Amino acid sequence: MTQGGNIPFVDLVAQHRELESELVSAFRKALQSAAFVGGPAVEGFERDFAQFCDTKFCAGVSSGTDALRFALMAAGVQPGDIVLTVPLTFIATTEAITQAGARADFVDVGPRTYTMDPEKLREYLKTQCALDRQTGRLIHRKHGKPVTAVIPVHLYGQTADMDPILELAGEYKLIVIEDACQAHGAEYFSRKENRWRKAGSIGRAAAFSFYPGKNLGACGEAGAVTSNDEALIRQVRMLRDHGQSKRYYHDMEGYNGRLDAIQAEFLHVKLPHLAKWNERRREAASRYNELLSPVADAITLPFEAGSAKSIYHLYVILAPEREKLIQHLAKAGVSTGIHYPIPVHLQAPYRALGYKEGDFPVSERVASQALSLPMHAHLLPEQQQIVAESLLAFMSLKMPMA
Ligand SMILES: Cc1ncc(COP(=O)(O)O)c(C=O)c1O
Repeated sequence: MTQGGNIPFVDLVAQHRELESELVSAFRKALQSAAFVGGPAVEGFERDFAQFCDTKFCAGVSSGTDALRFALMAAGVQPGDIVLTVPLTFIATTEAITQAGARADFVDVGPRTYTMDPEKLREYLKTQCALDRQTGRLIHRKHGKPVTAVIPVHLYGQTADMDPILELAGEYKLIVIEDACQAHGAEYFSRKENRWRKAGSIGRAAAFSFYPGKNLGACGEAGAVTSNDEALIRQVRMLRDHGQSKRYYHDMEGYNGRLDAIQAEFLHVKLPHLAKWNERRREAASRYNELLSPVADAITLPFEAGSAKSIYHLYVILAPEREKLIQHLAKAGVSTGIHYPIPVHLQAPYRALGYKEGDFPVSERVASQALSLPMHAHLLPEQQQIVAESLLAFMSLKMPMA
């Protein structure tokens, strides 16, 4: 994140000021009960977050990364499997795949939404995989490994186009795990079902992160898995707690991946405000769209698909002269971020997969130009005005009016 100063990229302090007395009493409650691990605080938050996501169940865990890993394992992904995702994501998506013992492989994102392109997925499944007639399993032709799951990432707060992804998953018997780590409360209009569906309720299971800067953020690390599948959630609860279903009776080896009770209390205080905060972000996004419309030909503004209600975790423009623009904005006190400068297939840990520049051109183009402007629920219209004026001034220097 670049440091501007006057206009922060996110403003958690403003959020905490709004809820200070409730957050302090939540902390006091935890000190008084001394229930720091598990207990009613965790269960209460799980119940209400499941309800918020329109799912039957939720299991709180220690981070979004653990949520992804546990969801994959609990859904039945086995060591040696291939799991498909997109290169334009935070590395946690692929780390979780590797940590579950599987191998990550990629399909590119769409040029406007920056989420998984269902046509690319179709092409991958058709051309790179074959059905093993004996086992009925989908096998990657070159690697000889079973392809068992797909993780669409709801990037920047917008859901992936889930209808065709679910249809392909049904056809090829793939497990769908949503990476909803940036999409708390985002919605998707399913043409197939003719109804809006909440992020986190669409796949077999979903992973959420409550990293502090998320739309719903803890005051530390936290995450959750949501699902309508009770057996899957039971498995996640065991995985997060050393594989035990009863204290000191271990059915398997698990992890130390529980949701801290103090964080659950804080999240529970914030949850009732989430819908309002998301709405404020949507309003801020449309204000940016309007303010920046004069330069919409030169920079690419975010595109919201008709089937999506984005919660604008990030407001990302594509700026061809990104580095100069960052410096220019920083001089005006505007902090910005880059999400993400290098797509995952070109990151050092994945060199062994053998991908090179040019393999996923859309993700690579977005990574080379993406610039996140200040975006949070407490962003003021006056602050947006300053961001826009500074950006327009930069563009007029670049493109003198004829
Ligand atoms: C798309 C995506 N996936 C996974 C994660 C991992 O979440 P956490 O940082 O809570 O482990 C994040 C968080 O930044 C994310 O943005």
